[in-house]
Amino acid sequence: MLPDLAAEITSHLPTARFGRPLHVYERVTSTNDLAKGLAEEGAPEGTAVLALAQTAGRGRLGRPWASPRGGMYLSVVLRPALPTDRWSLLGIAIAVGSASAAESLAGMPITLKWPNDLLLDTRKVGGILVEAGPTFAVAGIGINAAVPPDLLPPDAASLNVELTTLVCEILRGVERALAMLPADTAGLLAQWRRRSATLGRHVRVVGREEVAGVAEDIDADGALLLRTAQGVRRVLAGDVSLR
Ligand code: ATP
Ligand code: BTN
Repeated sequence: MLPDLAAEITSHLPTARFGRPLHVYERVTSTNDLAKGLAEEGAPEGTAVLALAQTAGRGRLGRPWASPRGGMYLSVVLRPALPTDRWSLLGIAIAVGSASAAESLAGMPITLKWPNDLLLDTRKVGGILVEAGPTFAVAGIGINAAVPPDLLPPDAASLNVELTTLVCEILRGVERALAMLPADTAGLLAQWRRRSATLGRHVRVVGREEVAGVAEDIDADGALLLRTAQGVRRVLAGDVSLR
């Protein structure tokens, strides 16, 4: 545990609930695992876990997430008021909130690749992994900051921002974006559309079956609507990969 760093970050936190409390570690397996453990013990919404490095960071579909020192590895406990069939919207909100925070610090546009990638230009600078428990969800946010390029996959980018500032801004952005659910879902989706690097593109969705088409929109539940030769197909993020 790094209580001094936790106290330093907390003293700058601009949020009401997110990052309260904040548990900071030097190195963990995955911050999502620790946040899940805390949620299972009854931790309130907003409880967060930050690590300076992860030994088993993961992305969607069990893919590894490179987590060397320098990057931001943050997970937040959520207790959503939304029905579970709308929990895809959590990922949309977290992506919008994180992108807006990262953009304001980086001074460069950050776009979103459905469902969970943050892009700087065409390169991946961050990712979101929302994992659902029975009555809670854990939102994992990974942002590359001050990471030497040789420690990241070749198509990755890193932001030159300081960790305390980044954590505070991300928590602020995510708290604000999640507060739009459910009353202002339309406003949230509009923000996602403005940032989207996916809409209008020809994409291939790979899952149990493969679907190719033009990404036309996302719907009110955060699903991607694809115009295919057979008509419009609705794709949920859960078990698919976008190419
Ligand atoms: P999809 O579009 O289906 O989400 P993806 O390639 O973005 O596909 P994800 O599961 O979202 O896949 O993300 C995991 C992938 O991200 C890994 O396979 C790896 O290529 C890449 N990756 C891993 N660590 C990092 C990192 N620190 N920064 C950027 N990219 C990374
Ligand atoms: C992806 O792009 O597939 C999502 C990557 C999510 C990475 C973050 S880092 C903090 C949290 N802990 C993890 O093991 N994963 C998420």
